[in-house]
Amino acid sequence: MKKNIVLIGFMGSGKTSAGIRLSKSLKREFIDTDDFIEKREGMTINEIFEEKGEPYFRNIEKELCRRFAEPKSKIIATGGGIIKDDENVANLRKGGVIIYLRSTPERIAYNLRFDNSRPLLAGDNKQEKIAALMAERKELYERCADITIDVSNMNLDETLKKIYEVLGL
Ligand code: S3P
Repeated sequence: MKKNIVLIGFMGSGKTSAGIRLSKSLKREFIDTDDFIEKREGMTINEIFEEKGEPYFRNIEKELCRRFAEPKSKIIATGGGIIKDDENVANLRKGGVIIYLRSTPERIAYNLRFDNSRPLLAGDNKQEKIAALMAERKELYERCADITIDVSNMNLDETLKKIYEVLGL
Protein backbone atom coordinates (compact mmCIF):
# COMPACT_ATOMS: atom_id res chain seq x y z
CA MET A 1 0.00 0.00 0.00
CA LYS A 2 1.16 3.48 -0.84
CA LYS A 3 0.88 6.52 1.39
CA ASN A 4 -2.45 8.32 1.37
CA ILE A 5 -2.60 11.68 -0.36
CA VAL A 6 -4.23 14.07 2.10
CA LEU A 7 -5.58 17.43 0.96
CA ILE A 8 -5.90 20.13 3.61
CA GLY A 9 -6.88 23.78 3.40
CA PHE A 10 -9.58 26.31 4.04
CA MET A 11 -13.23 25.76 3.06
CA GLY A 12 -13.73 26.41 -0.62
CA SER A 13 -10.10 26.00 -1.61
CA GLY A 14 -10.90 23.10 -3.96
CA LYS A 15 -9.88 20.04 -1.91
CA THR A 16 -12.90 17.96 -2.90
CA SER A 17 -12.74 18.79 -6.62
CA ALA A 18 -9.00 18.11 -6.74
CA GLY A 19 -9.43 14.91 -4.72
CA ILE A 20 -12.08 13.51 -7.05
CA ARG A 21 -9.93 14.20 -10.10
CA LEU A 22 -6.85 12.69 -8.47
CA SER A 23 -8.72 9.59 -7.44
CA LYS A 24 -10.04 9.08 -10.98
CA SER A 25 -6.72 9.54 -12.70
CA LEU A 26 -4.67 7.57 -10.16
CA LYS A 27 -7.42 4.95 -9.74
CA ARG A 28 -7.27 5.23 -6.00
CA GLU A 29 -10.12 5.27 -3.49
CA PHE A 30 -11.46 8.74 -2.65
CA ILE A 31 -12.79 9.83 0.71
CA ASP A 32 -14.17 13.24 1.54
CA THR A 33 -14.41 13.51 5.32
CA ASP A 34 -17.45 15.85 5.28
CA ASP A 35 -19.26 13.63 2.82
CA PHE A 36 -18.46 10.55 4.89
CA ILE A 37 -19.79 12.21 8.06
CA GLU A 38 -22.97 13.43 6.35
CA LYS A 39 -23.71 9.94 5.04
CA ARG A 40 -22.94 8.28 8.36
CA GLU A 41 -25.18 10.67 10.27
CA GLY A 42 -27.87 10.97 7.59
CA MET A 43 -27.72 14.76 8.03
CA THR A 44 -26.05 17.71 6.38
CA ILE A 45 -23.10 19.42 8.08
CA ASN A 46 -25.40 22.39 8.80
CA GLU A 47 -27.89 20.08 10.53
CA ILE A 48 -25.19 18.29 12.51
CA PHE A 49 -23.77 21.61 13.77
CA GLU A 50 -27.22 22.89 14.62
CA GLU A 51 -28.75 19.79 16.18
CA LYS A 52 -25.77 18.01 17.70
CA GLY A 53 -23.20 20.78 18.00
CA GLU A 54 -19.71 21.33 16.63
CA PRO A 55 -17.92 19.16 19.28
CA TYR A 56 -19.98 16.17 18.14
CA PHE A 57 -18.87 16.77 14.56
CA ARG A 58 -15.22 17.20 15.63
CA ASN A 59 -15.35 13.88 17.48
CA ILE A 60 -16.39 12.03 14.35
CA GLU A 61 -13.62 13.78 12.41
CA LYS A 62 -11.18 12.59 15.06
CA GLU A 63 -12.39 9.00 14.86
CA LEU A 64 -12.02 9.11 11.10
CA CYS A 65 -8.47 10.43 11.29
CA ARG A 66 -7.51 7.49 13.49
CA ARG A 67 -8.44 5.24 10.58
CA PHE A 68 -6.25 7.24 8.24
CA ALA A 69 -3.09 6.62 10.27
CA GLU A 70 -2.31 3.66 8.02
CA PRO A 71 -1.00 4.13 4.49
CA LYS A 72 -3.74 2.68 2.30
CA SER A 73 -3.29 4.46 -1.00
CA LYS A 74 -6.37 6.61 -0.41
CA ILE A 75 -7.01 10.12 -1.63
CA ILE A 76 -8.46 12.05 1.31
CA ALA A 77 -10.11 15.48 1.10
CA THR A 78 -10.42 16.83 4.64
CA GLY A 79 -12.76 19.36 6.25
CA GLY A 80 -11.08 22.75 6.70
CA GLY A 81 -11.00 22.50 10.49
CA ILE A 82 -9.48 19.04 10.77
CA ILE A 83 -6.01 20.46 11.41
CA LYS A 84 -7.13 22.21 14.61
CA ASP A 85 -6.55 18.96 16.46
CA ASP A 86 -2.95 17.78 16.98
CA GLU A 87 -3.90 14.12 17.15
CA ASN A 88 -5.67 14.42 13.80
CA VAL A 89 -2.58 15.94 12.23
CA ALA A 90 -0.31 13.24 13.68
CA ASN A 91 -2.60 10.50 12.35
CA LEU A 92 -2.95 12.02 8.90
CA ARG A 93 0.80 12.46 8.71
CA LYS A 94 1.47 8.87 9.80
CA GLY A 95 -0.49 7.47 6.91
CA GLY A 96 -0.01 10.03 4.21
CA VAL A 97 1.61 12.95 2.52
CA ILE A 98 -0.19 16.18 3.40
CA ILE A 99 -0.77 18.73 0.66
CA TYR A 100 -2.02 22.18 1.64
CA LEU A 101 -4.04 23.98 -1.02
CA ARG A 102 -3.44 27.58 0.04
CA SER A 103 -5.75 30.33 -1.14
CA THR A 104 -6.68 33.91 -0.28
CA PRO A 105 -9.80 35.13 1.55
CA GLU A 106 -10.82 36.98 -1.65
CA ARG A 107 -10.64 33.86 -3.81
CA ILE A 108 -12.35 31.73 -1.16
CA ALA A 109 -15.16 34.28 -0.85
CA TYR A 110 -15.56 34.21 -4.62
CA ASN A 111 -15.61 30.39 -4.72
CA LEU A 112 -18.22 30.28 -1.95
CA ARG A 113 -20.35 33.22 -3.12
CA PHE A 114 -23.43 31.04 -3.71
CA ASP A 115 -22.70 28.50 -0.98
CA ASN A 116 -24.70 28.12 2.21
CA SER A 117 -23.43 24.76 3.33
CA ARG A 118 -20.74 26.00 5.74
CA PRO A 119 -22.17 26.69 9.22
CA LEU A 120 -19.08 28.63 10.31
CA LEU A 121 -19.64 31.15 7.51
CA ALA A 122 -23.41 31.54 7.88
CA GLY A 123 -25.05 34.96 7.97
CA ASP A 124 -23.72 38.32 6.80
CA ASN A 125 -20.16 39.46 6.19
CA LYS A 126 -18.94 36.20 4.75
CA GLN A 127 -15.66 37.64 3.54
CA GLU A 128 -14.83 39.08 6.97
CA LYS A 129 -15.62 35.75 8.58
CA ILE A 130 -13.36 33.99 6.11
CA ALA A 131 -10.53 36.47 6.71
CA ALA A 132 -10.80 36.15 10.51
CA LEU A 133 -10.86 32.33 10.50
CA MET A 134 -8.07 32.23 7.96
CA ALA A 135 -5.88 34.50 10.10
CA GLU A 136 -6.49 32.16 13.03
CA ARG A 137 -5.59 29.01 11.10
CA LYS A 138 -3.00 30.14 8.59
CA GLU A 139 0.02 29.03 10.58
CA LEU A 140 -1.58 25.73 11.47
CA TYR A 141 -2.09 24.83 7.81
CA GLU A 142 1.48 25.82 6.99
CA ARG A 143 2.87 23.84 9.89
CA CYS A 144 0.92 20.68 9.06
CA ALA A 145 1.75 20.61 5.38
CA ASP A 146 4.44 18.48 3.79
CA ILE A 147 3.80 20.39 0.57
CA THR A 148 2.06 23.75 0.06
CA ILE A 149 0.53 24.76 -3.25
CA ASP A 150 -0.74 28.29 -3.75
CA VAL A 151 -3.96 27.77 -5.68
CA SER A 152 -5.27 31.32 -5.37
CA ASN A 153 -4.64 31.99 -9.06
CA MET A 154 -5.07 28.46 -10.38
CA ASN A 155 -7.96 26.66 -11.97
CA LEU A 156 -8.58 22.97 -11.30
CA ASP A 157 -6.45 21.74 -14.22
CA GLU A 158 -3.52 23.85 -13.10
CA THR A 159 -3.89 22.65 -9.53
CA LEU A 160 -3.86 19.03 -10.68
CA LYS A 161 -0.83 19.59 -12.85
CA LYS A 162 1.02 21.11 -9.90
CA ILE A 163 0.03 18.23 -7.59
CA TYR A 164 1.39 15.67 -10.06
CA GLU A 165 4.54 17.70 -10.40
CA VAL A 166 5.22 18.00 -6.66
CA LEU A 167 4.48 14.32 -6.12
CA GLY A 168 6.66 13.31 -9.04
CA LEU A 169 3.75 11.56 -10.78
C1 S3P B 1 -15.12 23.39 8.38
C2 S3P B 1 -14.96 23.07 7.06
C3 S3P B 1 -15.95 22.31 6.30
C4 S3P B 1 -16.75 21.39 7.25
C5 S3P B 1 -17.33 22.19 8.36
C6 S3P B 1 -16.28 22.92 9.19
C7 S3P B 1 -14.07 24.22 9.05
O1 S3P B 1 -15.29 21.51 5.32
O2 S3P B 1 -15.92 20.37 7.75
O3 S3P B 1 -18.25 23.10 7.81
O4 S3P B 1 -14.03 24.25 10.29
O5 S3P B 1 -13.27 24.83 8.31
P1 S3P B 1 -14.73 22.06 3.91
O6 S3P B 1 -13.36 22.58 4.17
O7 S3P B 1 -14.73 20.87 3.04
O8 S3P B 1 -15.67 23.11 3.47
